[in-house]
Amino acid sequence: MSSRREVCIVCHASHKAQTVPGTGLIWGRPLTAAIFKTYSSKTLKASVGQPSASSKFCLSCHDGTIAVDRFGSNQGGMAFISGSAKLGTDLSRVHPVSFVYDDALAGAVKHLKLPSVEPSGFGSAIAKDLLRNGKVECVSCHEPHNKTSNAAMLRRGLGEAGLCRICHKAMPPTSGFSHAGKCGDCHSLH
Ligand code: HEC
Ligand code: HEC
Ligand code: HEC
Ligand code: HEC
Ligand code: HEC
Repeated sequence: MSSRREVCIVCHASHKAQTVPGTGLIWGRPLTAAIFKTYSSKTLKASVGQPSASSKFCLSCHDGTIAVDRFGSNQGGMAFISGSAKLGTDLSRVHPVSFVYDDALAGAVKHLKLPSVEPSGFGSAIAKDLLRNGKVECVSCHEPHNKTSNAAMLRRGLGEAGLCRICHKAMPPTSGFSHAGKCGDCHSLH
């Protein structure tokens, strides 16, 4: 990357572009056409569909199917994402994204906070600050412009009162398991 403008151009474009449905973004690259295996579990109540809106945009590099350097007039890129930053198309162990998180869901799941009223810590309620069109997306946890000093561009660190606890309450103990401590110590997100 040779200039600050090019740094923006990999994600934002002003012409030769398409809009990313469900966002205000214009995008100078193809969007991924992959069919993803989405998160599921015995306890999950939310209905999780295919990644959409800006999460689909993130995955258009991070699923590893479209070259990262394919943007603007350079449509023949060869550099694919690799290593741990490549999430692939199996998201069944990745925190669910692109699903509605509203007060009805919070009412049905004991460990969730009420998104319309509980503060996010970023000035307003969870729904206003962290959800996009009422949904959890990649950008609920990650700040794509790297304005934070946290690892992995996280909006908040993974301390005991950190990122996870913005939306989740402390986990209640279940039979034989206290479920106490920092969420990130036991749950890997990707
Ligand atoms: C990794 C991809 C990526 C890069 C690189 C990037 N952006 Fe963004 N940008 C996004 C996404 C995704 C959003 C939507 C963010 C959201 O919903 O929170 C966004 C939103 C914005 C917005 C709308 C306001 C906001 O912050 O949500 C502006 C303005 C913006 N970007 C400017 C820039 C500029 C200027 C650069 C270069 C310095 C840049 N972006 C680089 C992905 C990117
Ligand atoms: C144009 C391609 C592209 C898009 C779009 C893109 N990324 Fe990335 N991202 C990259 C590359 C390249 C890296 C560096 C990978 C490496 O270090 O191996 C990266 C790294 C990251 C990292 C790791 C950063 C670190 O400090 O460890 C995170 C987290 C991340 N991206 C999240 C996102 C999110 C969230 C979005 C959508 C808002 C997004 N990316 C969109 C190309 C992209
Ligand atoms: C619930 C919060 C959350 C959501 C939603 C989320 N992430 Fe992450 N992500 C994390 C955390 C926490 C880490 C760093 C800790 C870890 O996974 O070990 C991380 C790490 C990453 C990394 C760096 C991986 C590495 O080891 O280099 C990438 C890339 C990334 N996320 C992309 C995404 C993309 C793309 C999405 C949407 C499909 C997404 N994330 C959704 C919390 C989240
Ligand atoms: C923006 C809000 C938000 C943030 C931040 C967040 N989560 Fe979640 N998480 C949710 C919602 C909403 C669900 C869906 C719960 C359901 O429907 O049962 C969920 C689901 C989960 C699940 C799957 C639950 C199941 O029953 O299978 C786990 C595990 C989880 N989150 C852990 C974490 C961890 C660990 C972090 C911090 C890295 C985190 N979450 C950050 C909102 C969030
Ligand atoms: C000591 C390790 C540990 C810590 C710390 C931990 N978890 Fe868990 N969590 C687990 C294990 C083990 C399971 C059961 C996984 C399974 O059955 O697949 C689980 C299950 C869950 C589930 C789904 C089951 C349910 O009861 O609804 C959610 C949601 C969850 N954890 C969220 C969190 C959050 C949020 C935090 C932080 C407040 C956290 N966990 C801290 C180990 C931990």
